[in-house]
Amino acid sequence: MVRSLQSQVMKNSPTAYITTPIYYVNDKPHIGHVYTTTICDIWARYMRFAGRDVFFLTGTDEHGVKVEKSAREREVSPQALADENAAEFQRVLGTFQLTNNDFIRTTQDRHVRQVQHYVQRLIESDDVYLSEYEGWYDEGQEEFIAETKAAEQDYKSAISGKPLVRMKEANYFFRLSRYQKQLEELYEKNPDFVRPGARRNEMLGRMREGLQDVPVSRTSFSWGIPVPGDEAHVLWVWLDALSNYITTLGLGEPEGEVHAERAKYWPPAYHVIGKEILFFHALFWPAVLIALDIPLPRSVYAHSFWISEGQKMSKSLGNFIDLAAIERYLDTYGLDMWRYFLASEGPMGATDSDFSANHFHDIYSTDLVNTVGNCASRVTAMINKYFDGLVPSEPPSDNRSYSEDFNWPQLTDETVSTVAGAMERLELAGAIEAALSLVRRVDAFINHTEPFKLAKDETRRDELGAILYQCLETIRIASLLLWAVMPTKMATLWEALNIDIDPDQGKLSELTQWGGIVPSTQVTKIALFPRVDQPLDVTAV
Ligand code: MSP
Repeated sequence: MVRSLQSQVMKNSPTAYITTPIYYVNDKPHIGHVYTTTICDIWARYMRFAGRDVFFLTGTDEHGVKVEKSAREREVSPQALADENAAEFQRVLGTFQLTNNDFIRTTQDRHVRQVQHYVQRLIESDDVYLSEYEGWYDEGQEEFIAETKAAEQDYKSAISGKPLVRMKEANYFFRLSRYQKQLEELYEKNPDFVRPGARRNEMLGRMREGLQDVPVSRTSFSWGIPVPGDEAHVLWVWLDALSNYITTLGLGEPEGEVHAERAKYWPPAYHVIGKEILFFHALFWPAVLIALDIPLPRSVYAHSFWISEGQKMSKSLGNFIDLAAIERYLDTYGLDMWRYFLASEGPMGATDSDFSANHFHDIYSTDLVNTVGNCASRVTAMINKYFDGLVPSEPPSDNRSYSEDFNWPQLTDETVSTVAGAMERLELAGAIEAALSLVRRVDAFINHTEPFKLAKDETRRDELGAILYQCLETIRIASLLLWAVMPTKMATLWEALNIDIDPDQGKLSELTQWGGIVPSTQVTKIALFPRVDQPLDVTAV
């Protein structure tokens, strides 16, 4: 069964679907939320530019005991709290220019209807049965914790450090244990189902311990989707929340309009999440899908966490990177640098990344001011100085004498494929590094060929022009590869190069062919990244 489900996961499908976790509305957006959403945005932008039909989803997770309690503390209704914070999350998407195709809220009718339909089916197939749970619950994570694990954690949440809550409740349970074998098979046949590898190993470990059935309803509070046919129960928030990935596509309403438009995006879905919610996505969710006879997503990518200035982020330590702190970075360095830093230095591997003002500053100065900015400015300045801003000609193709090190058509071609491969696997840092090394190579070429010296010799004008053409053309190709990360700055560069590009037309592979920039095009000298004197003072907040 698993094999047939997975065989439907087409490689290089023209459609592409990427999702963020949907965020709890009891919290204000911070670097963690912005990070995951930005990663997905970069991928979505790149894939659209590469010609894929992309659907990029984010949203808010609005039910559960945690939200109900926060609302009570603030003396507002859970719905009012959800409305307020969902609006804040949506506003933030605009601030960061994130290009999601929809924003799902789990209190919306379109979601609730379909979830109830799925639960009904699970009850009918005896995948969900009534029983009782007695044990520990982590309210911050909305997670049931087994006794041995609870003891190991000293009866505190592994994430928030808050005491676990003792619970005894009538609950419906999902028969996760029934799917142990199929999940094992899934992992074996699809080594990339969970990435990175260290996280996959964690899940293999969970399976070795043996999968237990999981409670999927609650009776001690009411802020949730009622269980159909038994309204004393509301659904456990995770079963509700995970379903967003398919309810947004209308999969639960095959006759509906949404289904007609969006069903094509499932199954090749990429679920991008943080490491703390892997079990739900990598074991519980696939089992639910198998039970519902719905094909499985393509992959779950669990990144690690940002810490800040060397320590776990905490409001009391004053190192919490909330929106106000982010705003200061945006004001000083600009949104594109913010995106660049998250993508190139972020915790996509199995270890956490440290967000520090000094490191941020160093990366800006080294990669953007001194590499991308400087190279673009050097080349456009020389074209202005020696050719009145008109792009010179390359020598005819039968008369090119590329050295091994500077065979530009070949180098750019190779880089285009490296970036494509890295992006497919969500290796953003690898993609960025490939594009940047192309820019560094242009710098090396300039140092090697010394066009400023050639310029003094009238008889070598063709040679000078050919060198500058190759530099500019390589920068153009690098800028196409960097656009998904730095859309505003790269569009500014295109304007200076007088080229008209609309990434939404999906022409990346045509545009990255060597020779795209036309001789005699008028180009302007450009300064892309202004120098910033010193790192932000993080104690000054
Ligand atoms: N509502 C659930 C997810 C349901 S998905 C079906 C949830 N929400 S959350 O608001 O707590 O968001 C958790 C996500 O925020 C993490 O998985 C991660 O994507 C992001 N981050 C939160 N803190 C983070 C860091 N310090 N660093 C990086 N990302 C982290 O869990």
